[in-house]
Amino acid sequence: MDSLNLNDKAAIVTGGATLIGAKVVEALEAAGASVVSADINAEDGAKVADALGDRVVFSHTDVTDDAQLDSLVQQCVDSFGGIDILVNAAATYEDDGMDTTRAGWLAALDVNLVSGVLLTNRVAPHMAARGGGSVINFASIAGKRATNLFFVYGVSKAAILGVTRNEAVKLADDGIRVNSVSPGWTWSNPIQAMSGDDRAMVDEMAGNFHLPRRIADPEEVAKVVVFLASDWSSFITGEDIAIDGGYTAIGPEQMGQPLEAFLAAAPEG
Ligand SMILES: NC(=O)c1ccc[n+]([C@@H]2O[C@H](COP(=O)([O-])OP(=O)(O)OC[C@H]3O[C@@H](n4cnc5c(N)ncnc54)[C@H](O)[C@@H]3O)[C@@H](O)[C@H]2O)c1
Repeated sequence: MDSLNLNDKAAIVTGGATLIGAKVVEALEAAGASVVSADINAEDGAKVADALGDRVVFSHTDVTDDAQLDSLVQQCVDSFGGIDILVNAAATYEDDGMDTTRAGWLAALDVNLVSGVLLTNRVAPHMAARGGGSVINFASIAGKRATNLFFVYGVSKAAILGVTRNEAVKLADDGIRVNSVSPGWTWSNPIQAMSGDDRAMVDEMAGNFHLPRRIADPEEVAKVVVFLASDWSSFITGEDIAIDGGYTAIGPEQMGQPLEAFLAAAPEG
């Protein structure tokens, strides 16, 4: 059996400047791919790319700008001869819940949802010219479950599940597979910042709703993305893979004490 490798493959990763995106870029590169990492955060994006050598380049790209999407696609073709893999990971958490204004909704959906579709549509002919490709969209547990933290963000991630299925149908005849990943809580820039860089505290708190009793490492997300990018997932398309430590598998009483207390208090027999 062939070993999993992405030798001679070219990839675009949006959101490549942040911890999760950077680990995706690193894992794709380690598997043999050449990568254009794109982000609006030029400083961190360039730092990540520079540390990884010649097969990774950074593109300062705002994914909501059509002309910049065109340049991004062209940069990958010019640098690496084509495009085989696209990872849509750029996202915003801008969210005022049900008080979000129309402008706020449109701005958030533009980054999280619409831009990924527009980029996929631009990339598809290049993948088709190479005989096929793989698109991986970032969804989330927040797209499957209501949470106190998110509203607009969660809706945008729920919509990505639908987009993924529709893109898989539209692009199948060109040999392009489209899937999404839905991570649970993952050690990332936002969680690092919110916790004051206290991983142990986050593991202790969020471990109550992930079966491994901790949050994910960004590498654990990146490895699944590499699997979906590779031929090892050749019969998977239109699918979402949960990387959530069982978050969406368990019911609310599974991890806590209330049920245990109830059973202990129940009369014998
Ligand atoms: N952190 C988690 O626990 C978690 C859980 C599930 C899913 N995710 C998903 O993982 C991905 C990374 O999220 P993160 O938590 O690391 O957040 P993050 O904010 O650190 O990363 C998002 C990245 O997207 C970039 N970005 C934002 N707007 C952009 C634009 N207009 N053009 C180009 N780039 C832009 C940002 O600069 C940033 O680098 C997102 O798709 C997120 O939904 C994260």
